[in-house]
Amino acid sequence: MINGNKTIIRPLEEEDMEAFYQWYNDPEVNYWSSGSWPLNTLLSKEEIQDRYLENSDEHRYAILNLDKEIMGTIGFREVNIPARSATVFIVIGNKQYWGQGYGTDALKIFLQFLFQQWNFHRISLDTWDGNIRAIKAYQKLGFICEGKLREARFVQGEYRDALVFGILSSEFLKKG
Ligand SMILES: CC(C)(COP(=O)(O)OP(=O)(O)OC[C@H]1O[C@@H](n2cnc3c(N)ncnc32)[C@H](O)[C@@H]1OP(=O)(O)O)[C@@H](O)C(=O)NCCC(=O)NCCS
Repeated sequence: MINGNKTIIRPLEEEDMEAFYQWYNDPEVNYWSSGSWPLNTLLSKEEIQDRYLENSDEHRYAILNLDKEIMGTIGFREVNIPARSATVFIVIGNKQYWGQGYGTDALKIFLQFLFQQWNFHRISLDTWDGNIRAIKAYQKLGFICEGKLREARFVQGEYRDALVFGILSSEFLKKG
């Protein structure tokens, strides 16, 4: 377990899949997290389990509130071993927690974990240009917007830019 001021991060459990089933079938959660709308498919419980619990290409954890109730998920993928870099993703799936500092807290303790325990050198993140809440949370933690992939996302009938953010371990650890 990793403890923050507002959140706790722990490895995923099978029982978390019920919450995943709700979140990943929620149009609003999907709208912000992937920029895709409408949903392509309604995911079955088996697909959810296969995709999120048994997917060996990513390291995924649960985000809990301080009462140990699950509210979201965070993880990393695209690990480059020689460069010691990876890409992080985060979804606060329970919408009642949005915009109250939970995502920033979870991301902060996760970065500490990745830089100090996993010894990563660089962490990337991306989102689309309309996701201001995500962009603000990333920038508060010291992520720098390093590039724009022009019209790389299609959101509600419009092409939107994807923004790529990055932070180095020296920058994060210096910030404290
Ligand atoms: C993106 C996400 C992780 C951010 O976590 P969060 O707990 O909601 O965000 P925080 O409260 O920590 O920080 C959000 C910042 O945006 C601001 N904000 C909140 N709602 C906003 C809105 N609707 N529009 C603009 N800014 C907003 C907050 O005031 C805060 O900034 P401040 O501290 O300077 O005031 C979370 O909202 C989420 O999971 N959303 C759905 C999925 C998603 O977008 N995932 C990431 C994209 S890949």
